[in-house]
Amino acid sequence: MTYYDQVAEAAELLRGRLGGLRPRVGIVLGSGLGAVADAVTEAVFVPYGEIPHFPQSTVEGHSGRIVAGLLGGVPVVVMQGRVHSYEGYTPQQVTFPMRVLGMLGVRAVVLTNAAGGIQQGYHVGQLVALADHINHMGWNPLTGPNEARFAIRKGAGLRFFDMTEAYSIRLRTLAKETAKEEGFALDEGVYLATPGPSFETPAEIRAFRALGATLVGMSTVPETIVARHMGIEVLGISCVTNLAAGLGVTHLSHEEVSDTGKQVERRLAGLLERLAPKIAAAVEAAQ
Ligand code: HPA
Repeated sequence: MTYYDQVAEAAELLRGRLGGLRPRVGIVLGSGLGAVADAVTEAVFVPYGEIPHFPQSTVEGHSGRIVAGLLGGVPVVVMQGRVHSYEGYTPQQVTFPMRVLGMLGVRAVVLTNAAGGIQQGYHVGQLVALADHINHMGWNPLTGPNEARFAIRKGAGLRFFDMTEAYSIRLRTLAKETAKEEGFALDEGVYLATPGPSFETPAEIRAFRALGATLVGMSTVPETIVARHMGIEVLGISCVTNLAAGLGVTHLSHEEVSDTGKQVERRLAGLLERLAPKIAAAVEAAQ
């Protein structure tokens, strides 16, 4: 069975489970940020283990299920938990769920993550909208034959494609407006993805800062690349769960990352609840 057929099979199962729900907006929740899914009403839950070919999350704080329902009154499909290459998954497996979302009919995704803050002035617990990224994974999920059938619209699915606006300016603008309505400021940042799972050394953080990164994490970038290949619009939101190595007074731990996520997830839920209808309206309108 080809990779494309596996994605189609997974999407078919999900379509059946979702009943008449046709989400145009997808949301991926990062480490410690899972509670956003609690804001989803009329929810249908599908554990990853029940979806054919779907990779299973092995990380604590990533629960591993699809939550589909209404957020702010519009249909959404939420991935509560994601997989990473450091768990031993291949680039194709890491991005399998994003392919499935595309085939389900999703036109925009909100990719959230826990990140270390590199930029001076960032504080722990802050949310930052991604303006751009640096792929420092050492691999690209599109390596191999190009599969044009994954395109969700004309002009997508190309071998070579533009990444100048990997993160949608219009979605970012909506997100910043919405954050203001919710009473907080959403800064913009540049996210650098490392393969992990070890956190960085202070020297690596100094190097990443010199490269132009303001945030560092172990996810999101492969998903963004695959989403853009399909023609899906991307909004990236990082939660600064800790100051990057060498910048804070404490040593880094997964507990710190998860605990900060826990403190911020309600604010993120409020933001996404207000934002989802705006994103849905934006993608319904002609692109
Ligand atoms: N580095 C890499 N990934 C992370 C960090 C970090 O400091 N915090 C949360 N995810």
